[in-house]
Amino acid sequence: FPGAAEFVPDSRAVDDLRTHAAGCRGCDLYADATQTVFGSGNAHARVMLVGEQPGDVEDTRGYPFVGPAGQVLRRGLTDAGLGDTPVFVTNAVKHFRFTERGRRRIHEKPTAAHATACRPWLAAELRAVRPAIVVALGATAAGSLFGSGFRLTAARGQRLDWPPAKGDFADSDVDVQVAFATVHPSSILRTPDDERDAAYAAFVADLAVVAEAVR
Ligand code: URA
Ligand code: SF4
Repeated sequence: FPGAAEFVPDSRAVDDLRTHAAGCRGCDLYADATQTVFGSGNAHARVMLVGEQPGDVEDTRGYPFVGPAGQVLRRGLTDAGLGDTPVFVTNAVKHFRFTERGRRRIHEKPTAAHATACRPWLAAELRAVRPAIVVALGATAAGSLFGSGFRLTAARGQRLDWPPAKGDFADSDVDVQVAFATVHPSSILRTPDDERDAAYAAFVADLAVVAEAVR
């Protein structure tokens, strides 16, 4: 893929970035999706949360985390004591990747190449919002922020060094104080019934570590 870089304006205003991202053709995903789903929330938030890619609902509505995964995320933030903290939410990949089955659109994981193509938008969001804290939600976001070898299960819920040792952000001018990683909220929705409460509690425990860093 050619990547998003040539579409990213030299601007640190989120609205400007969003306008340009609407026309991005940096990879193949723009072709079948409804629209670019750019980051949203407080443009000067201290906390930026990074998901994987928009889901079906987000693709239709144009905002990140407004579907089922977003409900879990908001509940988790509230239960972790971050309910009143202004946040900016975005995704590693800004277009919905899916396959059609009948009239249903089934989520398909973006590849590492999609994340790489879209990373200039994530970098631009980080430069514009300048959060003190960045939180990767799930392996796709963690890979995009911390490099592809990143082990989420070992590193979740801990303070992580920034800049990361590996990946495109290792020597970039993106300046963050501290980073965190946890699971993707949709993984909790996919957890079997008898394990879901524990999975949710572990997610909240990870977010509570973030809440401590906010204070
Ligand atoms: N899952 C994500 O990773 N991001 C969204 O915006 C919605 C669901
Ligand atoms: Fe551009 Fe990212 Fe959409 Fe690909 S997924 S077209 S790089 S905005």
